[in-house]
Amino acid sequence: MTGGTTAPVITIDGPSGSGKGTIAKLLARQLGWHILDSGALYRLTALSAVKQGVDLNDPGAVAGVARKLDVEFRSGQMDQPVSVYLMGEDVTEEIRTETCGDKASQIAPHTVVREALLQRQRDFRRMPGLVADGRDMGTVVFPDSPCKVYLTASAEIRAQRRYEQLKQQGQSVKIAHLLSEIKARDDRDMNRENAPLRPADDAVTLDTSGIPIDEVLREVLQIWSSKQA
Ligand code: DC
Repeated sequence: MTGGTTAPVITIDGPSGSGKGTIAKLLARQLGWHILDSGALYRLTALSAVKQGVDLNDPGAVAGVARKLDVEFRSGQMDQPVSVYLMGEDVTEEIRTETCGDKASQIAPHTVVREALLQRQRDFRRMPGLVADGRDMGTVVFPDSPCKVYLTASAEIRAQRRYEQLKQQGQSVKIAHLLSEIKARDDRDMNRENAPLRPADDAVTLDTSGIPIDEVLREVLQIWSSKQA
């Protein structure tokens, strides 16, 4: 952004199941701000590549898909989730499957893919403010954010949360399988060379294991208030 007033950004990073998606949504609603679910863009890129028969191991081809991604996020009513459309097709549920998350994690390490999605993510920054949820929001995409939060929780607790979430969606999975997938994905997201999952140097880390969601929200709001003081 050049000149004028730059919209504030609160970044919420962390591994899957840390509660960042829920916190980001509640925070955006409370503040009346826009929201960026950056993971959805990686999931949509992977899904679009698969639908077009593009090889996920070909970074250049996948980056081409990312650049041309035709997506629309449609906000629902107060408690309704945002609907996601890929080339006019409702893929809200399809992008949330474990398979799609796994494929997203597979394409995410490629530098050209990340570069292709960078400006698209920054374009979400609009007044009155943006809550950005992801892995590298504080480190790479919005390094100038005045308020960076890194949420974490034990792998066991994250697997349990994911299990409950999938059960609610009518998907049946074994918890042991989810736990090993979560550990494998953490390993891949944290140890990749490009934009690895890690807290920014100026991020506040909160361990959400066993902490009710409204308490985590209160703490994040407190961090935001303290940054404005
Ligand atoms: O948050 P999520 O589970 O929807 O993300 C899916 C995958 O996308 C995750 O395994 C890693 C990747 N991702 C990323 O590399 N950078 C982001 N900012 C968000 C997601």
